[in-house]
Amino acid sequence: MSIKVDPGWWKTLFDEVYLLTDARSVCDEKLTRRETDVVCDLIPLEMHHRILDLCGGQGRHSMELSSRGFSSCTVLDYSQYLIDVGMEMASRSGCKVEFLQGDARETGLAGSSYDHVLILGNSIGYLPCSDDDSRILMEAYRLLKPGSWILVDVADGEQVRDSLNPNAWHEIDEDIVVCRTRQIEGGSVLAREVVVSKEKGLIRDQSYCIRYFEAETLRDMMIGAGFETVRVHRDFKLHDKEGDYGFMNRRMIVTAKKPEDE
Ligand SMILES: C[S@@+](CC[C@H](N)C(=O)[O-])C[C@H]1O[C@@H](n2cnc3c(N)ncnc32)[C@H](O)[C@@H]1O
Repeated sequence: MSIKVDPGWWKTLFDEVYLLTDARSVCDEKLTRRETDVVCDLIPLEMHHRILDLCGGQGRHSMELSSRGFSSCTVLDYSQYLIDVGMEMASRSGCKVEFLQGDARETGLAGSSYDHVLILGNSIGYLPCSDDDSRILMEAYRLLKPGSWILVDVADGEQVRDSLNPNAWHEIDEDIVVCRTRQIEGGSVLAREVVVSKEKGLIRDQSYCIRYFEAETLRDMMIGAGFETVRVHRDFKLHDKEGDYGFMNRRMIVTAKKPEDE
C-alpha cells in the first residue's frame, strides 16, 4: 500500500522535532565543517562576497562561513521556526548572519545581488510539482550576479534508487526512537516517520515525499535555468560513522556559473 502524503508537508515538518530526528546530519558541527570545506574547495568564495544560503534551515553553514571570516551571509528558509532558532544561535555566538523567512521559488530579493547561492543538505525536491525545483534554480539564477556561482548539494539519486533501506530506525537518546518506512514511487521517496518517546509516547507520525535527482537530470535542470560550466561531483560520503542517514548518505554536488554576459 502506498504511503499517503499531504502535499503541504514541507511547510510544517521543519520544526523542533526535525532538529531531533535529523540531528545526526543537521546539528553535527564536525559534519557542517566538512561540508563547508567542500563548498570552499569547489567554488571561488572570497571573504567579502555576498553569499545566499537558500533553504538554509537554521543557518548552520552560514554560521560556519561567518566564523571563518566570510562577512556577508544571508539565510533564507521557509520555516519560521528554524529562522528563529538560527537568529538566536547567531546572536548568542556573535555571528553576523542575516536571516530571512521566505519561499525559495520567489524570494522577493533584488536580482543580480549575490556572488554565490548555496543550496545545501538536500533542500530541493520537496514541493509537489517537479517544476518547482526548476523554479528554485531559476530564482537562484536571477539572484546571482553575472559570472557568479551556484552550488547545489543533494542526495545522489542513483544511490537512493539502488540502495534505499525500506525500514530504518535510530535512537536519538535513551528516550526517543525514530522509525522510518520508505518506498520509491515515480522518482520520489515516500516515507512515513514515526517518532516515539518512551516517556511521553508518540511525538510524531508524519509522511513526506522527496524527489531524488539523477546526475544527468540535475545537469539538464541547471542548463535549463540558464547556467553554464555545470559540473557534477559525485561520491561524497561526509558522515564520519557508518549509518543510515537517508538522503544525506551519499551526496552529489553540482556547481555552475551564471554567464558573464547576462
Ligand atoms: C533538510 S533541510 C536542510 C536545511 C539546511 N540547508 C541544512 O543543510 O541544514 C531543508 C530545508 O529546506 C527548506 N525549504 C524547503 N522548501 C523550501 C522553499 N520552497 N523555500 C524555502 N525553504 C524551503 C526547509 O524549510 C528546510 O529548512
